[in-house]
Amino acid sequence: MKKEVWWDRTIQNVEQAKGYIRGYGEGVFFPSRMKVLDLIKDGESLLDVGCGPGCEYENIKESKRKIVYKGVDYSLKMIQACRELFPETDWAVQDARILMEDDKSFDTVLLRHVLEFIYPYSVPIGEAWRVAKKRVILVFWIPPQNKGADRISFNEDDDKCQANAYDLPTLMAYLKTLTDKIQVWENVGKSNMVILLEK
Ligand SMILES: C[S@@+](CC[C@H](N)C(=O)[O-])C[C@H]1O[C@@H](n2cnc3c(N)ncnc32)[C@H](O)[C@@H]1O
Repeated sequence: MKKEVWWDRTIQNVEQAKGYIRGYGEGVFFPSRMKVLDLIKDGESLLDVGCGPGCEYENIKESKRKIVYKGVDYSLKMIQACRELFPETDWAVQDARILMEDDKSFDTVLLRHVLEFIYPYSVPIGEAWRVAKKRVILVFWIPPQNKGADRISFNEDDDKCQANAYDLPTLMAYLKTLTDKIQVWENVGKSNMVILLEK
């Protein structure tokens, strides 16, 4: 099964989508989500790509931050869950590889726990960079490390959704083609790695 359709096929209905991640101990106030809030400013806009059931937005709302938020995800069930939980903001079904947003239309574009499923990652990161006015934030839960090469799991034919593990030097070499302004934080809650790219 293709990785991008796994969620929509595996999650049985919108009610189950609402509970996804919220119930797994990595929910709304997880440290790497709080770190994202530290890196963005009130009054700015955020496009959350691969937003899942909207935990990032819930954090923004509960933290009383004044962020203009839009969440997009490949899974219609995730987006329906978001729309039912938080009808006050903007949600859309979109593919991280071909975003339907204008160039420089959001201050920040976030890719959290989604790049592990999209290869090559240069396509969604390139799209995020195109749409971002000020910065792109990447959050990995499988932190890129010195592995010699990317480890890509191909699982088109089964019902699992295994994640990729990336080689850090290869990733950094690609990110440096976009900008020299790169900051990295490790172990931001469990294994999470947060990478900030600024324009
Ligand atoms: C592990 S969840 C992370 C959800 C959310 N970002 C969070 O951190 O709570 C991965 C999400 O990425 C979405 N996704 C996978 N491939 C995608 C793609 N090509 N475009 C947009 N979303 C995608 C899935 O549907 C799923 O909701």
